[in-house]
Amino acid sequence: MNIILLGPPGAGKGTQAHRLVVERGLVQLSTGDMLRDARTSGTEVGAQVAAVMDRGDLVTDEIVISLISEKLDGNISGNGFIFDGFPRTLAQADALSDLLKSKEQALDAVIEMKVDDEALVARITGRYTCSNCGAVYHDVTKKPTKDGKCDTCGGSDFTRRADDNEESLRTRLMAYYRDTSPLIGYYYAKDQLVRTDGLGEIDEVAARVGAVLEG
Ligand code: AP5
Repeated sequence: MNIILLGPPGAGKGTQAHRLVVERGLVQLSTGDMLRDARTSGTEVGAQVAAVMDRGDLVTDEIVISLISEKLDGNISGNGFIFDGFPRTLAQADALSDLLKSKEQALDAVIEMKVDDEALVARITGRYTCSNCGAVYHDVTKKPTKDGKCDTCGGSDFTRRADDNEESLRTRLMAYYRDTSPLIGYYYAKDQLVRTDGLGEIDEVAARVGAVLEG
């Protein structure tokens, strides 16, 4: 089963992808995570992407397509992929279609997570992440069970993303509406789009995503 989670920054793509990894053994391919790894790796790509990401602009299609292509090569025998934050442009969507075809794979569903802008701002500005394992928390809606200790790995060091501020978020939202939202029509025309309400408790959203996967 190969699915895309499509939605604006803060829609809950990473949160729901993580659950699908744990509950269904799918492999999460998050281009945001790959790019964050790249920027700390000291490579040329890392240096190129850091400033772009901090501003909230999109990294070039060439870079993200090559990152996804590498990851697909290494993981093809698993239960399937969750594409989280990819594709984000029509060129990326065409490239994904070609990549999957070349590996005799198909896309099963594109799940659009709809969340209004006001909720997105609240989600993004309250987000923090375990520095050790990357588990995602929120100041209000998802605190660790034990104060200051990550539920997943027990780590006690947490960070906030450099692009999780109101100015970068404005740019990220603009990039979403300008470059990524045309994918809604693209996948609708291919009869692969399923629209879900991304508002509500994390468990409620997970149940809606699960219902899509159960068909
Ligand atoms: P990326 O890392 O993909 O960021 P994003 O798309 O902006 O999405 P986020 O990770 O911010 O949000 P999310 O939907 O995963 O929400 P989350 O589950 O964390 O990309 C970052 C940058 O990398 C881009 O700006 C760009 O520069 C570059 N990039 C990445 N991919 C690219 C590509 N393909 N092409 C070009 N450039 C690319 O949830 C957010 C918060 O809300 C959390 O605190 C969570 O706990 C909370 N939350 C989640 N669900 C709920 C709920 N139902 N109710 C209440 N709170 C909730």
